[in-house]
Amino acid sequence: PRKIIIDTDPGQDDAVAILLALASPEEIEVLGITAVAGNVPLELTQKNARIVCELAGKPETRVFAGCDRPIERPLVTAEHVHGKTGLDGPTLPDPTMPLQDAHAVDFIVETLRAEPEGSVTLCVLGPLTNIATALRRAPEIAGRIAEIVLMGGAYFEVGNITPAAEFNIYVDPHAAAEVFACGAPITVMPLDVTHKALVTGPRNDAFRALCTPVGHAVAEMTDFFERFDKEKYGSNGAPLHDPCVIAHLIDPEIFSGRHINVEIETGSELTLGMTVADWWRVTDRAPNATFIGDLDADRFFALLTERLGRL
Ligand code: BDR
Ligand code: CA
Repeated sequence: PRKIIIDTDPGQDDAVAILLALASPEEIEVLGITAVAGNVPLELTQKNARIVCELAGKPETRVFAGCDRPIERPLVTAEHVHGKTGLDGPTLPDPTMPLQDAHAVDFIVETLRAEPEGSVTLCVLGPLTNIATALRRAPEIAGRIAEIVLMGGAYFEVGNITPAAEFNIYVDPHAAAEVFACGAPITVMPLDVTHKALVTGPRNDAFRALCTPVGHAVAEMTDFFERFDKEKYGSNGAPLHDPCVIAHLIDPEIFSGRHINVEIETGSELTLGMTVADWWRVTDRAPNATFIGDLDADRFFALLTERLGRL
């Protein structure tokens, strides 16, 4: 299996991504989960990560708390999307599994140093603060990362937190800029693809029909989470942004994209956090990321539902 660290700010869609990873031990070995401030403050994201591990029946998973605010800017959160707890929808018990003592950034640095070069993939589902902080502390780890697969940015779909920017990149644009410049292989799941991973009514019914605590919890999370996108975009169900990252590791053929140059706007207040993606290759800037543009949604949901059924 591929060794991964999941860096996350749960978030209902983060929760589904964690469940998908923990349900797929043949393909994925979760070395640890590192929480970051994002959808809600760090106190809640680290707690939510543990709630989800216990829901999955995997309380032995190591969860670390990381940075509680972006590198330069004040924290912006998204309770308007995810609710006050970040995980509104189902009623889940408080976690009893421990939070690890080490700081998430130390865990990331030490793991990349200890594991064989090119063997650890970073799956990033929230603002890029923990990853950029790790790269600042130990720049040599960039050359040891197998791949960074992240949910963030947008091209045709543009923004969900400002007209120009997607939430994860907007919250810590300086961190994002450093990560995109670090030289490690990067795969990006922008809104253009995640807005196609919609939990329609029949797909939600399929989660419920698993008749398991996990199936019910995921159905209730996506019921809650769909309100925002239905109102804002008239979309036909909740978009499962973050699970796209994990699905890409299990079955990359679900997705298609282009290897292009992506730069992050950090200067302009108006377009702060915009992912300036050279989709049409109109510049000679060197490609630094594979930007995913499309997915086979039925295949994605077939995989997800089958895997959730294993928990
Ligand atoms: C991203 O922001 C968060 O609200 C979601 O969890 C996802 O990671 C979508 O813009
Ligand atoms: Ca997230």
